[in-house]
Amino acid sequence: MIGVFDSGYGGLTILKEMQRRLPKYDYLYLGDNARAPYGSRSFDIVYDFTLQAVKALFNRGCHLVILACNTASAKALRSIQQNDLPLIDPARRVLGVIRPTVEQLPEVSSSRHIGLIATPGTVNSHSYRMELEKMYPDMTITEYACPMFVPLVENNEADSPGADYFVKKYIDAIMKEDEKIDTLVLGCTHYPLLASKIRKYLPAHVRILPQGDIVAESLADYLSRHPEIDCRCTKDGTTQFLTTESPEKFNTLASIFLGKDVTAERISLPE
Ligand code: DGL
Repeated sequence: MIGVFDSGYGGLTILKEMQRRLPKYDYLYLGDNARAPYGSRSFDIVYDFTLQAVKALFNRGCHLVILACNTASAKALRSIQQNDLPLIDPARRVLGVIRPTVEQLPEVSSSRHIGLIATPGTVNSHSYRMELEKMYPDMTITEYACPMFVPLVENNEADSPGADYFVKKYIDAIMKEDEKIDTLVLGCTHYPLLASKIRKYLPAHVRILPQGDIVAESLADYLSRHPEIDCRCTKDGTTQFLTTESPEKFNTLASIFLGKDVTAERISLPE
């Protein structure tokens, strides 16, 4: 199975696109709902929690794990790839969502001014900025933290009138910082659930970059370039779900994210 990890429900927006792009593969989704949100947690805590989750997915037979969480990708991916994987099993792989997203930016932006909205953790890590400066030094990025977005989504308030207040506030603020922004990256996998409200308050010429499509396409490309990993991924078209919180709670909200019924099993971390 391909392991897909997020602090909570957000990674389901990535899983959905992976299932659409690569329907034959088997997926094992893990949401650390009991400890979500990760967005305001320190570097060390996000790293510890993410490593525990990766190990749980490895223990269940995943050879490839996607961190479908920007916060975990920003704060834990590099350490896991460089320090932990060589000790755990150098043949396994852990990939994140930031690099594939940044790789797309020159293709979609004409002004070369990018806006990024994300959790405080992702913004304070400056992972997007560092990746962009390394790859496309002529491009500019304005990073803006939206601490209220994940709680709104996790509490099923994304469609409520109350959410409009925070969406307008954050969008107005980032557009005020750089009026030349023509592409807005939703740098948190929860944010697609707020996409219609974000669209409502964003100037019409500013494009929203869909991260799910990009990550799914990048995974397809990765698997075609790495047959040694691809041949270890089973292909029966199944998806299983794990959560560290109550499965009933997970099933209800996950069904809204995915638009179909979900049955999750509860696990405890660390195992
Ligand atoms: N969905 C996650 C992300 O992409 C994190 C949300 C959170 O736990 O704060 O950043």
